[in-house]
Amino acid sequence: MIKQAIIPLAGLGTRLLPLTSVFAKELLPINGKPGIEYILDECIEAGINDIIFIISKKKEIIKKYFYNDKFYKKIIKKKKDPRIINEYKKILFYKKKIKFVYQNMPLGTGDAVIKTKKHIKDKFFLLLLPDDLIVKRNCSKDMINAYKRYRCSMMASMKVNKNNVDRWGIFKIEKILNKKNFTIKDVVEKPTKVEAPSNNAVIGRYILSKDIFKYLKNQKKGKGGEIHITDAIRKMIFNNYRFIGHKFSGQYLDCGSMSGYINSGIKISKL
Ligand code: G1P
Repeated sequence: MIKQAIIPLAGLGTRLLPLTSVFAKELLPINGKPGIEYILDECIEAGINDIIFIISKKKEIIKKYFYNDKFYKKIIKKKKDPRIINEYKKILFYKKKIKFVYQNMPLGTGDAVIKTKKHIKDKFFLLLLPDDLIVKRNCSKDMINAYKRYRCSMMASMKVNKNNVDRWGIFKIEKILNKKNFTIKDVVEKPTKVEAPSNNAVIGRYILSKDIFKYLKNQKKGKGGEIHITDAIRKMIFNNYRFIGHKFSGQYLDCGSMSGYINSGIKISKL
């Protein structure tokens, strides 16, 4: 079964400047709760108990958030505030499940994933991109359930505006299996409107086979000079690996851009 998840967190967050000039975007509060906690809750509720954070030296504040025991103990001793005690317990609960690996050069999602290679034990694992929040329904849980049926790699999918395809990985659908799932014939990272094989975009939830590491090892830099997970997946598809696109239920919220980030807080506050 799928028990491990990896979460790339080494990105610079330039789309959220100036908020990210001294702070990690994943710790920014969305309706009073750091974005990363939404992602952690989704993983844990989906049955994941081993979570690998890929951070960088510049983003050690994320580690500090989970390792601030001395500070909490001192405050709790002085104040005995039940709210703080509960928050600290929650942090300890998360901390037990998290390992940290480093990606000090921001060379892309594919490069981040390679860094976790020696920690991945099972044949398949979950990858979550923290800029993509999905609320109202646990997308990871639904995908793990679908995986139990199909036993192959999977990626979350959503239709996007045709004018914005160059912001996403875009699928070419092979065959519609049912209302929620389709097999993937091809996937292209950030195509132009003309190149795009559809307007079905990749959203940041993936179930990947360990074999991806072999492909990532030889993966050359792609769009924007980064090593993209999409490019390695594409090669796997061409080598007859089965990939399924999962049209997730639930609401997608983009937390990686300033307008999306602001909107996410508003939307979540109304849930
Ligand atoms: C990444 C992926 C892209 C995917 C997107 C979803 O892009 O490379 O294929 O559509 O996440 O959010 P990024 O957001 O890192 O530019």
